[in-house]
Amino acid sequence: MTPLLSTKNISIRFNTAKGTVYAVNEVDIQLKKGEVLGIVGESGSGKTQLMLSLIKLLPENAEICGQVNYDNHNLLEASQAQINKIRTEEIAMIFQDPMSCLNPYLKISTQLIEALLLEGKVNKSEALQQAIAMLKKVQIPNAEQRIHAYPYQLSGGMRQRVMLAMALLRKPKILIADEPTTALDVTVQAEILQLLKQLTKEYGLSVLFVTHDLSIVAGQCDRVVVMYAGKVVEQASVDELFYRAKHPYTQGLLASAQSQSGMSDKLISIAGQVPANNKLLMGCPFYQRCEQRIEPCANRMPILSGNDMHSQACHLYD
Ligand SMILES: Nc1ncnc2c1ncn2[C@@H]1O[C@H](COP(=O)(O)OP(=O)(O)O)[C@@H](O)[C@H]1O
Ligand SMILES: [Mg+2]
Repeated sequence: MTPLLSTKNISIRFNTAKGTVYAVNEVDIQLKKGEVLGIVGESGSGKTQLMLSLIKLLPENAEICGQVNYDNHNLLEASQAQINKIRTEEIAMIFQDPMSCLNPYLKISTQLIEALLLEGKVNKSEALQQAIAMLKKVQIPNAEQRIHAYPYQLSGGMRQRVMLAMALLRKPKILIADEPTTALDVTVQAEILQLLKQLTKEYGLSVLFVTHDLSIVAGQCDRVVVMYAGKVVEQASVDELFYRAKHPYTQGLLASAQSQSGMSDKLISIAGQVPANNKLLMGCPFYQRCEQRIEPCANRMPILSGNDMHSQACHLYD
C-alpha cells in the first residue's frame, strides 16, 4: 500500500553565525493511512524540524533537500498557495505550546471560526455553532461561554484542547502532534492523550505523534520511528519495538524508560553525550556511546536494513 505521506532523503541544515548545523540527515519515513506513527528521540534529535519541513514551516535559516511526497506531489516544490491550502485543509499541526499558534489578543471564537469563514461555505453564526460543537467534542465545559474567552483566561490543558479543536475544525487528513502533552501536569496529560486517541479514531485521522517519552508511545501509537542525532536508527511496530528492539540506542532508551517507571530497581541512563551536530558524521552517530560497537561503526554509516515490519540502521545486523 502506498503511504499517505512519505519523506525521501530529507536533510535539513541551518546556517548560523557559528557555522552549519546538521539537524536532520537523510530521513525516510512513511505514514500509512489511518495509523498513528510515533516519532521518538531525545531532545535535539531533529523531530520538530522534520515535522515542520513537511508543511514548509522551517525557520528562514534552514536549507532542506529531499522529497515530501503527498498526494502525488513533492510538497517541497509546492507553491505558497498550494501549501496554504494543504495546511488549512489536509495537514494540521499542534504544538507543545498552544500559545505558539493562538493569538493572545484575539478571542478564541474569532480564531476558531477564521478558517471556516475563509473556506466560505458557512456564515458567521453557523461557523460559531460549529466551533462550539467542536469545543464540546474536545470536552471543554461551558463551551458556549468559554468560546468568548481570551487564551490567557484558560488553563494550559484547556488551551491545548482549543488548539486541537482548531486543528480538527479544518477536517484534516493528517494531524501532526508535536509533544502535545509535554508541558502539562501528568493528570491533564493523561486526559489529553485519551482524548487524542478517541478523536483520532472518530475522525479517521492519520497521525504523526512526536514525543521524547517512550512510555507514552505504547498507549498511543501503532508504529514507531526512533531518531537519534538527526537520523532514523530504528523503525518497527510498537510490539516489535518494545519486545524485540534491535538498535543499541533503542535498547538503552527502553531500559532507561523502564527504570524510570519503577520496573527496575536501579535508574539506568545511557552514558555519554549526543555528538555535536556541527559536522557530518562518517560513522554511526551512536557509536561513541554504544557498548556493542564493532569495527566498522566509527567510520561507516549504517543504513536501514530489515523489512517493512522492522528495520534498523546498525552494523550488528548487516
Ligand atoms: N533556527 C535554527 N537555527 C539553528 N539551529 C537550529 C534552528 N532550529 C533548530 N535548530 C537545531 O536543530 C536541531 C534539531 O532540533 P529539533 O528538531 O527542534 O529537535 P527535537 O524536536 O528533536 O528536540 C537542534 O540541534 C537545534 O538546536
Ligand atoms: Mg521538538
